[in-house]
Amino acid sequence: MANFYQANKKKQIVGQIVDLKIERLDLNGCGVARLNDKPVFIDQALPKETVKVKIIEQKSKYLRGKIIEIATASKDRVSPLCKHYRLCGGCDLQHLVFSEHLAFKQKKVADLFQRNQINQSLPWQNPIASTPWHYRRKARLGVQYDKQGHVTLGFRQKGTNQLTAIKQCHVLVENISSIFIALKKVLDQLVTSRSVGHIEVIDTGKITLVIRQMKKLNDTDKALWQLAEKTHQWQVLIDEGEQVTALTEKQPLKYKLLNELELTFNSQDFIQINHQVNQQMVQQAMDWLSLTATDVVLDLFCGLGNFSISFAQKVKQVIGIEGIQSMVDRAATNAINNKLDNCQFYQADLNADWLSQAWANIQFDKVLLDPARAGAFEALEQLVKFKVPCLLYVSCEPTTLARDAKYLISQGYKIEKIALIEMFSQTKHVETMVLFSR
Ligand SMILES: C[S@@+](CC[C@H](N)C(=O)[O-])C[C@H]1O[C@@H](n2cnc3c(N)ncnc32)[C@H](O)[C@@H]1O
Repeated sequence: MANFYQANKKKQIVGQIVDLKIERLDLNGCGVARLNDKPVFIDQALPKETVKVKIIEQKSKYLRGKIIEIATASKDRVSPLCKHYRLCGGCDLQHLVFSEHLAFKQKKVADLFQRNQINQSLPWQNPIASTPWHYRRKARLGVQYDKQGHVTLGFRQKGTNQLTAIKQCHVLVENISSIFIALKKVLDQLVTSRSVGHIEVIDTGKITLVIRQMKKLNDTDKALWQLAEKTHQWQVLIDEGEQVTALTEKQPLKYKLLNELELTFNSQDFIQINHQVNQQMVQQAMDWLSLTATDVVLDLFCGLGNFSISFAQKVKQVIGIEGIQSMVDRAATNAINNKLDNCQFYQADLNADWLSQAWANIQFDKVLLDPARAGAFEALEQLVKFKVPCLLYVSCEPTTLARDAKYLISQGYKIEKIALIEMFSQTKHVETMVLFSR
């Protein structure tokens, strides 16, 4: 059929200023109002507020607006502590009083479960709380250069790939929250232009910096980093892609678990970023699983053995499965270093077929799984064949958790307990623990 010209009848309202009443928060913590029967999403607006808004985006199903003025502020509105808040894409909830964050996160999980037709009333337990600020022990700081080669050190701006320059970050632990100024000074002095891609900062009591070099480190720049290392008592590691080397002597990175257990890790390894909350989370996992001396436990997505090593002190045997071979090796070394001989670690892609692996023939009493944001659907499709009576799911993404919970319920599991874990204060990110039984 021939195409005919049709005049665009859609009235353009981008740029219009309108007064709106905010009805609710969406799953990302964005205020939602209605205009001409369409939802309008407004960043940093709170329920019950009346706001003057500029329409900045118009789609067939929704609009997006930007606050010009808050006419009536919510009683839950607070002044953001961070001066970078308006631009930085990091912590989305700072304008909402901290005491309301967990309520927002719990509603988000509950809404997602409901959308997945999970009609069981959720047996919420007390959350694991966190300090509002200074909890994050590891972060990647972006480095960007403009046309003249001037450097910006900071985090990504909301909704763009541009960095916003940061001077202080209140969610980083005190030791590293103001490191930006000293680091920027070194970056400004480097003679090789555009040489740094990003910098990882890790606090283990001592500060470790991993400098991602985009060009080979020359002697002048090496001397500058060495001087900074000495002046600030940092450990500086140089990541040239193939390998990570220390400028001076390499000191192992370690963190403490419960009962004086200790995990060694590499700068590229995943570690739980909130140290205090991690300890409480591991303790709660042990409590909820009611571990006993006869239990044989499977720890899927085990990383460095964060859960496995703690569990091993209580149970007969732990088998940990992880996708990255170097982390599997480090988990095994962590077991040896902690004098534990009842845990073994194996490499497997848990999204692929793993039922034919030898460890999958073991009779497990309890399973813990702690997948990345993508969730564990493929792993669960195989795991359900074991009919393990007790399954503890730790999730950092409620969307995939709700999908996976729906599947487990369809396979005869029931939710026994559910709780929030405030791993990422001030942000919209939600960590949840769910105990399933069958
Ligand atoms: C959220 S981390 C949890 C790690 C560990 N449980 C902890 O508490 O530190 C998820 C882990 O799953 C691993 N992983 C991601 N996808 C995987 C896959 N398809 N197969 C196996 N492991 C995977 C990651 O390498 C990472 O170590």
